[in-house]
Amino acid sequence: MISMYKFAKPFLHLLDAEDAHQATIALLKFLPRLKPPQDNPNLTVQTFGLSFPNPIGLAAGFDKDAEVFEAMLTLGFGFVEVGTLTPRAQPGNPRPRAFRLTPDRGVINRYGFNNHGHAPARARLERYRQSGIIGVNIGANKDATDRIQDYVAGIDAFATVASYFTINVSSPNTPGLRDLQEPKMLTELLARIIEIRNKQNFYKPILLKIAPDLSYAQLDDIVHVARTRGVDGMIVSNTTLARPTMLKSPYREEAGGLSGAPLFNASTRILAQTYLRVENQFPLIGVGGIDSPETARIKIEAGATLIQLYSALIYEGHELIEKIKNDLSQTLQREGIPLSELVGRQARRYAQS
Ligand SMILES: Cc1cc2nc3c(=O)[nH]c(=O)nc-3n(C[C@H](O)[C@H](O)[C@H](O)COP(=O)(O)O)c2cc1C
Repeated sequence: MISMYKFAKPFLHLLDAEDAHQATIALLKFLPRLKPPQDNPNLTVQTFGLSFPNPIGLAAGFDKDAEVFEAMLTLGFGFVEVGTLTPRAQPGNPRPRAFRLTPDRGVINRYGFNNHGHAPARARLERYRQSGIIGVNIGANKDATDRIQDYVAGIDAFATVASYFTINVSSPNTPGLRDLQEPKMLTELLARIIEIRNKQNFYKPILLKIAPDLSYAQLDDIVHVARTRGVDGMIVSNTTLARPTMLKSPYREEAGGLSGAPLFNASTRILAQTYLRVENQFPLIGVGGIDSPETARIKIEAGATLIQLYSALIYEGHELIEKIKNDLSQTLQREGIPLSELVGRQARRYAQS
């Protein structure tokens, strides 16, 4: 299993990005459901009332319909976020809608929340009997008349099966979705979601996932609303609409959200800025451009209690997970500190970077 991706990559990269993804999902369905590898105890993270065996998660969008989350845990992720899921199935945008920016180690996607809706994902999650941590990322249908109600429906549908919820108000590919980051809309959204969550018999953490393309004034407002409404955490960040000038790939002008290496600096800066504003009121998940042990460590030092990745799997394969874990574990041993001491210790520096 160790170098499985080394063999598969040349074939997968002959395919269009979406076909390659579908082929990967199909292959992963055949992966034997083995027990995940035993992680070094110094990588355990206790947060959100959950015990994560290691801090590296699979970001949303890879396993949209909750089909291969067990396989991804077997490959060594400490947690998996499925979705984005909308109440009703929807096809998303026309193809082509995903592009590998190979010379830049990036990806542009404009999928537009293609997914099979709540019901099949929920049925699969209900069948899962193991103790792995599975977050459910929820969104709104493109044609929803009451977008907020779609999020409320998500909390209702997955309450018994989600380890945590992610409220995705930051995908660039559903027109108007990002307006939910505005203070008035966000206040109403969070009030309604948290009200329904608090009526349930079990407490499921609610995390807010934000865009990297926010001004610091907008970030001030979002963190203020998040703190006053009592969210349990934030995920920073989603893909960017910006196009850094250094991009070389012929696909660089494609519409959609950019992820991978070219997103690293912007998403790390906004993470550090968020960390400084949150003042330890709740933890953060850092995501965007992690593709090596070093970038993983920087995310944590910028303020992430947990991290997630997606795009780097396309270029580095799943071997990257073990590389990051080994490096992190050794760093902690060498420095003689717990993982929690790395979190945010360089936030001021990366907030300016
Ligand atoms: C093809 C693709 C699809 C994505 N779909 C979603 C999604 O449905 N919901 C979501 O919240 N984020 C989605 N994302 C964003 C990722 O979860 C992540 O925030 C972003 O890609 C930055 O991480 P990375 O640079 O490690 O990929 C998607 C990313 C990619 C590349």
